Amino acid sequence: MTSPLQEIMNPKRIIIDTDPGIDDACAILLALASPEIQVEGLTVVHGNCSLEQGTRNALAILELAKSEHVPVYKGFDLPLVQPSLLAPETHGNTGLGYATLSESQTKPQAQHGSDFLIEKIMSNPGEISIVAIGPLTNIAVAIRKEPRIVENVKEIFIMGGAIRHEGNTTPLAEFNTYVDPHAAHIVFHSGMPIILTPLDVTYDCILTHQDVERLLRIDSPLTKFIEDATRFYMEFHDEYQKIDGCIINDPLTLALTFMPEICDYQELYVDVDLSGGVSMGNTFADFYRLTKKPANMKVALGVRPRDFMELFLERMEKLAKSVS
Ligand code: RIB
Ligand code: CA
Repeated sequence: MTSPLQEIMNPKRIIIDTDPGIDDACAILLALASPEIQVEGLTVVHGNCSLEQGTRNALAILELAKSEHVPVYKGFDLPLVQPSLLAPETHGNTGLGYATLSESQTKPQAQHGSDFLIEKIMSNPGEISIVAIGPLTNIAVAIRKEPRIVENVKEIFIMGGAIRHEGNTTPLAEFNTYVDPHAAHIVFHSGMPIILTPLDVTYDCILTHQDVERLLRIDSPLTKFIEDATRFYMEFHDEYQKIDGCIINDPLTLALTFMPEICDYQELYVDVDLSGGVSMGNTFADFYRLTKKPANMKVALGVRPRDFMELFLERMEKLAKSVS
């Protein structure tokens, strides 16, 4: 167990693969506010919004946090097989709810996101962790292009799936695995060291109106962004799921890279349904070892939500003060 000082002196080097997206934006901000982490780059993927919109959002979020030094790479704009599915009803037409960020002065890198993932991982064996918080298209293609990233990546933290929990996109399937189930299947069975953060734990992590009011005590463009973005997200959760607040799936996933003790885990064999019927994209675990197949991931199935929310709020308060 490394000490907090050791973690800061030797930050975990991560690439965030993201479809920003309101909760993605919160995860990116949490990463930038956490000295335990060094963000090597953002690779953008279709999902909550289009690749183009998500790329604009990623650049603008980095500018908001005065972190334009972090490079942004465009990935894929379509799933491997399935038709495109975006989520304007959840994240708004811009992908950032009611928030309006000015167009960033910085531009994305010329290199494709899947090639950046390969290059960074292969040139830093055992050093790079991926935090995948969107559909897994970029990661799946990177594995097919260069299979050796499987044994050279340090680990991959995935926000996705619903194990015992109901789906949030179909009754059975979570958005990221439903949008590109074929990509999820490639990644789940790749042999990469996977830590999965499914809806089973993220649905306990609700950002409340009171939490946002606390952030607004700090007068900052960053707290105003969080309020404007999450206000849309909260309206969605109220209208569609009668939830008072909003589920911040992606920041929980990000937090586990440096504070794994927030959750409890089980080593499980997990698969994703490709049968194309009503359970397409559904993820399920072999709890009784009926398939005799070895576990292919660590799955977070227990969580201490207020420990996580306190961490998130404290780090947002600190970041807001630093960029005001
Ligand atoms: O199902 C929730 C996940 O899908 C989150 O990552 C959200 O941002 C969307 O990508
Ligand atoms: Ca996401």
